[in-house]
Amino acid sequence: MNPSPYKYSTLAVHAGQYPDPLTGAVNVPVYLSSTFELTGIGADKGWDYSRAGNPTRDRLEEALATLEGGHSGHAFTSGMAAISALVAMLRAGDHLICCKDVYAGTVRLFNQIVAGYGIDIEYVDTSNLAAVAAAIRPTTKLVHLETPSNPLMVLTDIAAVSKIAHARGVEVSVDNTFLSPVLQSPLALGADIVMHSTTKYLNGHSDGLGGALIGSTPEHKERFLLVQKAAGGVMSPFECFLVLRGIRTLPLRIRQHEENGRAVAEYLSTHPKVSRLAYPGLKSHPQYDLAVKQQKGFGSMMSFDLGSREAAGRFLGAIKIFLSAESLGGVESLASHSATTTHAALSDELRESLVITQGLVRLSVGIEDKQDLIADLEQALAAV
Ligand SMILES: Cc1ncc(COP(=O)(O)O)c(C=O)c1O
Repeated sequence: MNPSPYKYSTLAVHAGQYPDPLTGAVNVPVYLSSTFELTGIGADKGWDYSRAGNPTRDRLEEALATLEGGHSGHAFTSGMAAISALVAMLRAGDHLICCKDVYAGTVRLFNQIVAGYGIDIEYVDTSNLAAVAAAIRPTTKLVHLETPSNPLMVLTDIAAVSKIAHARGVEVSVDNTFLSPVLQSPLALGADIVMHSTTKYLNGHSDGLGGALIGSTPEHKERFLLVQKAAGGVMSPFECFLVLRGIRTLPLRIRQHEENGRAVAEYLSTHPKVSRLAYPGLKSHPQYDLAVKQQKGFGSMMSFDLGSREAAGRFLGAIKIFLSAESLGGVESLASHSATTTHAALSDELRESLVITQGLVRLSVGIEDKQDLIADLEQALAAV
């Protein structure tokens, strides 16, 4: 897919980030202009109005397309705005399959807004290929996956689901937020569209919100450009600059995230107060083989159970380097209580059926020194 002769770290530094043709500035300028002078009736220098296109956004979108090996990239105000744009092309009567264990904001969007447009949404355990095949109907238009899933780290076989879906004329989209394009390439595995919350690893510094869609065909490009222009949830030029800057160090950061993630998971796997530790890089993860097959690493997201809400509360109250906060993918380590933060939007019944218990804690392991992080977890677990 990606015709570039360059390796990934070279692409991360240079994709979309060549010098400004006007001034030679080596950093992509932030074009803070909502509108652009026209050169004649119906004629411009490539841009007319920033909702439709902005030179800084163009560079980020080029970088995103390159990193995911896609045909075009499209940047939005948040990850949720990107998912809204993804489903904006569905019509009343269409059937949308979504993986069952998914960020609860996606469930809130689908159930409380998208369903109101007459779109039929079905949550399926997509780690079960037979269940995916059985769920596809003549009206199915899209299978939306999140792998690894949030917060239980359940994997879906992207290549196998894409094969099943394509045989029935159905497209597959993948939320690649948890691994970033460095560790997983959904398009190369056969998916049609990749989605990101750039708020996470791509920005990498927890200082901005953003989202992205990367399509694999000219039709996707046409469709997502229309949604950007018509619905308008586009990323601001300054935010585009921040994400572009984050991308330059993405492979480097991911290497450290990965090293720390593995070390923390190995430490937690031996701790007597920790149960149901979910990290795809541990051989005890039921889908370890799939992780090795479809991922280029295991990342730094994991979850585990401390047995009760009180125990989780004591742990979150005792951590010192890890911060008790929602979100993930920044340089700093975060810990969150999924049931009352990222997954508060789910009904109690749904949370229970997914086994997102009151004792469940999710970690986003940052790039600090791994021994410091393990010592912090040790003292916090001692307080549980
Ligand atoms: C996997 C995943 N997808 C999408 C989103 C939504 O992204 P945003 O918060 O940028 O709207 C999140 C946010 O936590 C997420 O974890």
